[in-house]
Amino acid sequence: MQVMAAYLDHAAGSPMRAAAAAALVEALGRAGNPSSVHRHGQAARAMLEDARERLAALLDCAPLDVVLTSGGTESVNLAITGAYRAGAAAGRRGVLAPGGEHAATVETIDALVSSEGAELVPLPVDGDGRLSPAVLTGALDEHGAPALVTALWANNEVGTVNDVPALAGAARAAAVPLHVDAVAAFGSVPVRFRASGAALLSVSAHKVGGPPGIGALVVDRSVRLEPVLHGGGQERGLRSGTQQAAAARAFAVAAEAATEDLEREADRLRRLRDRALAGVLAALPGAVVRGADPAVPGARLPGNLHLTVPGANGEDLLLLLDMAGVSVSTGSACLAGVARVSPVLLAMGLPAEEARGALRITFGHSSTEADVDALLAALPALAAVA
Ligand SMILES: Cc1ncc(COP(=O)(O)O)c(C=O)c1O
Repeated sequence: MQVMAAYLDHAAGSPMRAAAAAALVEALGRAGNPSSVHRHGQAARAMLEDARERLAALLDCAPLDVVLTSGGTESVNLAITGAYRAGAAAGRRGVLAPGGEHAATVETIDALVSSEGAELVPLPVDGDGRLSPAVLTGALDEHGAPALVTALWANNEVGTVNDVPALAGAARAAAVPLHVDAVAAFGSVPVRFRASGAALLSVSAHKVGGPPGIGALVVDRSVRLEPVLHGGGQERGLRSGTQQAAAARAFAVAAEAATEDLEREADRLRRLRDRALAGVLAALPGAVVRGADPAVPGARLPGNLHLTVPGANGEDLLLLLDMAGVSVSTGSACLAGVARVSPVLLAMGLPAEEARGALRITFGHSSTEADVDALLAALPALAAVA
């Protein structure tokens, strides 16, 4: 029997685009550390700065604002820890964060609370996982002068997109820096730093078809940030460590490809997603879409489908689909293999029993109709556990 394999877990990471892989491989063979003064070093520096300029153009910020890191996790750690430490030095200890954030945010704040005296102010999200600007404004009125606010641009599990300019407006009105985790959003919806009004913004290359292990934190020059890594003082002193010029170049190539025809690609992904959704609802009539309404323009990431199946266990659904050659997830890859219900769904108000049946199916640049065909062909197998 022929197994139709399909990769439908782009939210966990997209395969590297051919152009990015070619740029990476070619550049990896070149000699030179961007910090060295000789010609080889200067050539590496030129490649690094060219990548930074290209990323800055895509992200709508100045090249100097782009701090290259080892990925989304490090960017989020630097943003939250760095802004917290700078704030705490001035007596500002509050950290405002909605429920359902990525583990990089949750664990960083937990560490600051347990060892550095940070005070977490949890913000409620609505039933779609959205943080309302009014909720943020209310919390800022109530909690005086916190060190920072952090929020997702788009939720990596249920795909709900926040109104970042409105959140940034609320934070600016209170003179509090807003960090936005745009790792899931960048390359899927327009992400423009200056226009958003955010103070700090995290992105990661492997979500846009670049190499894993590189990302960026965009840092507005008005923001005070303490470095987390100490060493040679690279990246404006905010992120020491030898810079990965080759990976930065591949990141820029991938990000350009991901954003060059965003609307048309979003339409294509929405069509694949909506066909998959219709198939899942036909095979599992009790399934419930979670997150923002897929029919509302801009409310949800175009390649994201998330459902809960009553009475089912998401891990069972995932394993049955895997046996049929279809790779999906139950939620964040960071929780894969951990028998825990999704904190995102709990933050949205779902009872644990319903949250257990979670299934996330995500599409990206390599997805085709054949992937949806493979998913639809595999769905009857799920009836056994649904
Ligand atoms: C919303 C969000 N933030 C942060 C991260 C972490 O990024 P990275 O895998 O590059 O460390 C991810 C990755 O899954 C994510 O989806």
